[in-house]
Order: sequence, then C-alpha cells, then structure tokens
Amino acid sequence: MSVAGNQEQSAETSVLNGRKILLGITGGIAAYKAAYLTRVLKRDGADVWVCLTNSGAKFITPLTMETLSQREVLQELFPENRMVGTRHITIAEWADTFVIAPATANILAKMRSGIADDLLTTLLLATAAPVFVAPAMNTRMYEHAATQENIAVLRSRGVRFIEPGTGKLACETVGKGRMAEPEEIAAVLRGFFARAGDLRGRKILVTAGPTHEPLDPVRYLGNRSSGKMGYRLAEAAAARGAAVILISGPTALLDPVGVEVIRIETAAQMDQAVGERFAGVDAVIMAAAVADFHPIKVAGQKIKKSSGVPILKLGPTADILSGLAQRKNRQVLVGFSLETTDPGKEARRKLKDKKLDLIIANNPLVSGAEFGSETNIATIINADGETIETGKITKRALADMICDRLAALLPRAGQKKTGR
Ligand code: CTP
Repeated sequence: MSVAGNQEQSAETSVLNGRKILLGITGGIAAYKAAYLTRVLKRDGADVWVCLTNSGAKFITPLTMETLSQREVLQELFPENRMVGTRHITIAEWADTFVIAPATANILAKMRSGIADDLLTTLLLATAAPVFVAPAMNTRMYEHAATQENIAVLRSRGVRFIEPGTGKLACETVGKGRMAEPEEIAAVLRGFFARAGDLRGRKILVTAGPTHEPLDPVRYLGNRSSGKMGYRLAEAAAARGAAVILISGPTALLDPVGVEVIRIETAAQMDQAVGERFAGVDAVIMAAAVADFHPIKVAGQKIKKSSGVPILKLGPTADILSGLAQRKNRQVLVGFSLETTDPGKEARRKLKDKKLDLIIANNPLVSGAEFGSETNIATIINADGETIETGKITKRALADMICDRLAALLPRAGQKKTGR
C-alpha cells in the first residue's frame, strides 16, 4: 500500500481528524521532535498551526515547520504583514487544543506568572482551549524547586502535563527531562478527544488524602497519603465535563481550578461531608486513606512528657464506603484498596464486602507506586471480576482509565440502574 493510501486511511478513522491543534515550539533541542510530531498529527488528519518562539527558531527553521504543517508559521506578535483585527485573539480562538512541545523551564515560569511578552505567551493567556505541555530540559532544571512549583501551580489550573522520560539527555547526562516521544504525545491527544465531554452532566464526588485523628492540640494519628491520586481523579473528571466535589484531608496540594473543594481533617468530618452530599451525586470515588482508628480521648492541652508515657485508647472510625453502600440507589461506588500483602485478593474481598462497582488495588511498597509518587501501579477490578493490570503509569493516566470505567458504569439518562 502506498504511503498516501495509508495516510488517508488513518486520517479518516482518527479522532484527530479535522481537529485544530496549535503547536507551540520553544527553545530546546527536542524542537527537532516537533517536526515529527507535526507529521504524526497531520497523518491523523489534524490541522496543525505552529507558533515558534525566537529561541525555538534557533533549533528548528520556520521553513521546516511551514512545509510540514502547510501553514504560515506564527512567530511575531507584531508582524509586518499584519492580519486585520486582534491576531492573538483570533488565533487563540481558532484552536481546539494547544500543545507546547517542547516546553522549556522558561516557558513554564512565564505561563505560571501570566507573562505575555511574545506571540506564544500572549496566545497562551488568550486561549480557552485545553493546554497540553511536554516539558524537555536538563534533569537539574526539571527538578529545580522553581520548575516543580511552576508545574504544580499550572497543573492546578488545568494544564495537562505529558511527563518527560528518563534517559540520556543532549547534555550527555542521564536523568529525567527527555521530551515524550511524538507518538506518545499524539496518543495523549487522541485519548483526550475521544473522552472529551463523556462525563458532562454528571456530578462526581471524590475524596482524597489522609485523615488526621487528633491526640491533643498539637499531635495526631495520620498516614502517608499525599492526596495526589484523588486530586488527579478530580482534575480528570472535571476535564471530561463532570461537576466535581473534592473532599480532601490535609494535603500540600493546590485546589484544582473548576472543582468545588471541601477541606476536612478527621474521618468523622469526612464521613459527615460525604454523607451530606451523597444523595445529589451520580458517583463517589473514595481515594482517601481514611483512618480506621481514632484516639477516644482527645486531650484539651498538650500532653506533657512529665505525665509519663500515655497509653492510647483507640476506637473505630465509621467505614464511610460501607455506609454509602447501604444507602445507594443510582450511585456508582468506586473504592481503593491499599495493601502491602496480596493486594489483588484483599481488593476482591473489599469489592464484595463494601458492595462496590469498581476497586483499584495498589501496593505502596512497590517501586513506582510509593506514597507521594506521580506514578502508580494498579489493578482495576470491576464487580464482574474483570481485571486490568495497568503497569507503571502516571496518576493522571490512571485517573483517566478509572474515569473510562466509570463513564461506562454510569446509567444513561432515563435508564434505571439495576441494583446488586
Ligand atoms: N474507607 C472508608 N472508610 C474507612 C476506611 C476506608 O470509606 N473508615 C474506604 C477507603 O477510602 C477505600 C476503601 O474503603 O476506598 C478501602 O480502604 P482500605 O483502607 O484499603 O481498607 P479497609 O476498609 O480499611 O480495610 P482493611 O483495614 O482490612 O485494609
């Protein structure tokens, strides 16, 4: 089969066919990969319009990008051959999605601060389209506290990150910072368009983080949950059109924009917050690591060493999910199961005992699934026993896999869910 034949065939069937993609290229050696990315997107039938920064143009020529995209390359904020009207607004509104690949540490800092000193940064401020960012830089620059803080803030504003890979970098060092491969970026975009809006009209309650059970005014019993999994779930569900309520225990994470966030501290407060909202939602995803025990007596004043070593008396907390299972009518219930031994077996038991529709099992002792990590390794099990082993994936990608299952489990409008 001819190359042209292949191109036509994939373009017709691809979810990217006819999508308008604004591709921002900034100044990094990975800019050469943006040429192939443009080829891949064009092969799928997308309309790609390239915006090149001055630094980007030092790594790849406008002529290369113009030839591949079959469009004028956007470079100047104030070009000599001016378009009539407000060019940056017209172009920003044209885009179905905005992809920055490669994204340097500099562009991330500018995006975080809202600086608009060239065409690309101005377009980024003016666009309402979803923004995807594929960072590419030296490991130390990527891991620098400033860059990591910028990423965290941008993420909380809904910017989607396509994680860089680990390997040998252009600077001859080995580490994290290599831009994701063009095929991987295209796959993320395909997934995005395939899922866009599939949770519109749904109300989803997500819980996240640990709970803290106080001993006295300064001490508590807690656990090492970072809350990242629940926050990524809230972001993913909101991006797909759901109205999301996030009930979060104490975490260091920023509130995701566009999500109603309720902060609580104890298991009892989480139980109450979830219980009050349960009747109005279509699904609950319990990603929180709820404490199973709490100190029965909470001292009003700090417990002093001089009073001797205290003996703690603990009582059980309410099992929130089991309580919801008793009350549920149409709601889909999703649980998590954190176990250090035999996660699959224990998860199946919890799925049955707590009458869940879906459970996600993971083991924090496995490398890649540790507390606080951006990645996870999970087993997703549904009530029919269907099981998916995810392998090591980002928590955001896992969140989308869970939302895929959830979207399929939610009864369609007017359809009654059969009780189990
Ligand atoms: N969960 C809950 N209320 C609790 C404890 C847990 O709703 N008091 C939820 C968690 O959010 C999770 C699921 O139940 O979605 C399973 O939690 P996990 O801690 O793995 O299991 P437990 O029910 O605590 O059981 P075990 O102690 O046997 O591990």
